[in-house]
Amino acid sequence: MTEIAIEGLGKNYGDCVVLENVNATLPDHEFAVILGPSGAGKTTLLRLLLSQEIPTRGQILIDGVPIDPEPQPDRGVVFQRYSVFPHRTVLDNVMMGPQLAAAPFTGRLWGARRRALADKAKTLLAEVGLIDHVKKYPTQLSGGMQQRLAIAQALIMEPKVLLLDEPFGALDQSTKKAMHRLILDLWQRNEMPIVMVTHDIGEAFTLGTRILMVDKARRDPQAPQAYGSTITQDIRLDPSKKPQLRVVEEGEDEASTMQAIFNQYRERASDCLVDRASDKPEERASA
Ligand SMILES: Nc1ncnc2c1ncn2[C@@H]1O[C@H](COP(=O)(O)OP(=O)(O)OP(=O)(O)O)[C@@H](O)[C@H]1O
Ligand SMILES: [Mg+2]
Repeated sequence: MTEIAIEGLGKNYGDCVVLENVNATLPDHEFAVILGPSGAGKTTLLRLLLSQEIPTRGQILIDGVPIDPEPQPDRGVVFQRYSVFPHRTVLDNVMMGPQLAAAPFTGRLWGARRRALADKAKTLLAEVGLIDHVKKYPTQLSGGMQQRLAIAQALIMEPKVLLLDEPFGALDQSTKKAMHRLILDLWQRNEMPIVMVTHDIGEAFTLGTRILMVDKARRDPQAPQAYGSTITQDIRLDPSKKPQLRVVEEGEDEASTMQAIFNQYRERASDCLVDRASDKPEERASA
């Protein structure tokens, strides 16, 4: 069981307000997708969830306990361009995290513990479709394969929460679709909640059980930095009722029309929307 509560969260960089009054409760096994225009603060929100940044206001709780102010392996992360270790094989890359956690000075386990870890790493590599590539180096892998390696690296730490920052942004459409099937499959078999950032609205509706739009609710043209982004849309989707939502076309996901595209998808997904009065952003904004 892992529940994430984001309470009155705000982040400033100097005079620049990036996030303000962000509130959301993500129940166990939620697949939350964060959408929003470029620069809205999506990565900042993920970095706050990871404790790579400290909030200016508010707090984040996991299972009712404020998160540790230092990054911990309980929150696994995959970035858009993941820095896998280029001089280590696929298998070593996956074994690295647990070895560093168990033996911080040598970064190496020996004997039975090493064999058990290698078995576990291979099981995960089989799940992400890389079992035939365990001896290769990252440069010998395609982009999609490197992302699958990054996912295996995150999962071997058995995180309570998996955080994904535009993990499939650089992939072509068909590789992306294969990754969608993989991540949905992993999510269904693991109980952890996923929080994923994307620009791709089709991807959001295909994968998410929850879609959070992060954007500025108010703007001051004279002082663009005065107001930060908050959650302007918060909807839940019932995965069992999802229609076949087509994957968004290239070029459709421009920030200027994001709200319009979002509304189209929302309309198309109307059969699988789950109504919750408390999710209405107008009510939250005035609260
Ligand atoms: N370390 C930092 N110092 C100062 N400003 C920062 C820092 N990190 C982010 N910002 C600012 O915060 C704002 C939000 O950045 P963030 O990276 O969270 O946006 P984003 O929504 O992830 O955008 P994109 O979709 O382009 O990745 C930007 O204006 C950025 O310049
Ligand atoms: Mg970002």
